[in-house]
Amino acid sequence: MSRKLISIASVKDYVGQEVTIGAWVANKSGKGKIAFLQLRDGSAFFQGVAFKPNFIEKFGEEDGLEKFDLIKHLSQETSVYVTGIVKEDDRSKFGYELDITNIEVIGQSNDYPITPKEHGTDFLMDNRHLWLRSRRQTAIMQIRNAIIYASYEFFDKNGFVKFDSPILSGNAAENTTELFETDYFGNPAFLSQSGQLYLEAGMMALGRVFDFGPVFRAEKSKTRRHLTEFWMMDAEYPFLSHEESLDLQEAYVKALIQGVLDRAPQALELLERDTDLLKKYIAEPFKRVSYDDAISLLQEHEADEDTDYEHVEHGDDFGSPHETWISNYFGVPTFVVNYPASFKAFYMKPVPGNPERVLCADLLAPEGYGEIIGGSERETDYDVLMEKIKANGLDPKDYEFYLNLRQYGSVPHCGFGLGLERMVTFVSGTKHIREAIPFPRMLHRIKP
Ligand code: 4AD
Repeated sequence: MSRKLISIASVKDYVGQEVTIGAWVANKSGKGKIAFLQLRDGSAFFQGVAFKPNFIEKFGEEDGLEKFDLIKHLSQETSVYVTGIVKEDDRSKFGYELDITNIEVIGQSNDYPITPKEHGTDFLMDNRHLWLRSRRQTAIMQIRNAIIYASYEFFDKNGFVKFDSPILSGNAAENTTELFETDYFGNPAFLSQSGQLYLEAGMMALGRVFDFGPVFRAEKSKTRRHLTEFWMMDAEYPFLSHEESLDLQEAYVKALIQGVLDRAPQALELLERDTDLLKKYIAEPFKRVSYDDAISLLQEHEADEDTDYEHVEHGDDFGSPHETWISNYFGVPTFVVNYPASFKAFYMKPVPGNPERVLCADLLAPEGYGEIIGGSERETDYDVLMEKIKANGLDPKDYEFYLNLRQYGSVPHCGFGLGLERMVTFVSGTKHIREAIPFPRMLHRIKP
């Protein structure tokens, strides 16, 4: 039988009409003559209402009762074709409901393990393949999708070309301690930590370029901000100064937040995300503070009653309590610029006149979401870069192509990488990064 299906998200265009929707039964309730089905199809959730007398009138006593009984006994996650008349419904947040006129079961579902009661995180993580169907998880995935689309849109509008960096690599992009090594026909190969080095080659060919793909860090950190596999958007662009690069990153992050407000308002509402705060982050300029000023601020405030970070000295790296404090102090996304060269990657250009510091910036999201972007101006001089590679204990042979780029028309250039899942947690208001990616890979989690 051919049937014209519509999605739940599009029911607003069919008020008063009879439509058919392919959906799953998320929940059901009701008693006596009335049954309520919570239906979901990925695009949205909404309620279908079945009224027994209507079924008897339409199908006759026997068939009508049988149909109504079928609806009353549908179990959670049964898939159905449900037909009905779309009605406006001011009482529900969604604004519409379906007056059910017919139903057809597609696939049975018995003893669905995730019930409306509370479940522990381990149980939900073991059942991630099913947990993804819940309201909260679908809302987060819709926000993730909105960020991806907004990112492509921003780069396209700003003259960037998508350039795909490889996933298998012969060298380390960031550091050598967090590499996943694999056997490549008898030789070692590594899973990419960032597409950046290849993107720089792309930039010399195409100008403004970006990539977007999975990256891997063998980080033994067990925090709510770390994954071992995550998705990164890297961008690289010639002829912009470090300051101009920050302007671009700020415009990018604002475009991503706006993209979510535009494309996934219902998801934000379901997650009860404070959208006034998101709008504030778009309206107000991001803060820029140097690493050294940030350390001084942290030292000044370490005795305050409401602070709980450890003492830091100039030259120390920040921990997440420090990052949280700094971004909360300013109340908007904050760029911390010019970190010590000692704990940043080899490719960063030193601050003119201060070789101890490099022209880099981490963008810290407020409300405790931590670093969402890492970026820098790149070293352009062959000899200086060679020295830095050696000083970092790296083998220049592994970086031949990267060094080679500096021999044929080297130009000033900057770039950055945004961690998609960090951005998702920030915009959606999700506290743990494991919910920001369909199948999280973490220190003790590779299944499902
Ligand atoms: O600061 P990172 O390490 O920068 C780079 O990899 C550069 N090569 C990027 C570039 O300049 N093209 O990582 C960039 C971002 C971080 O700001 C953070 O958002 C995210 O990647 N990130 C992680 N996200 C989840 N889990 C982890 N273990 C992450 N490590 C970094």
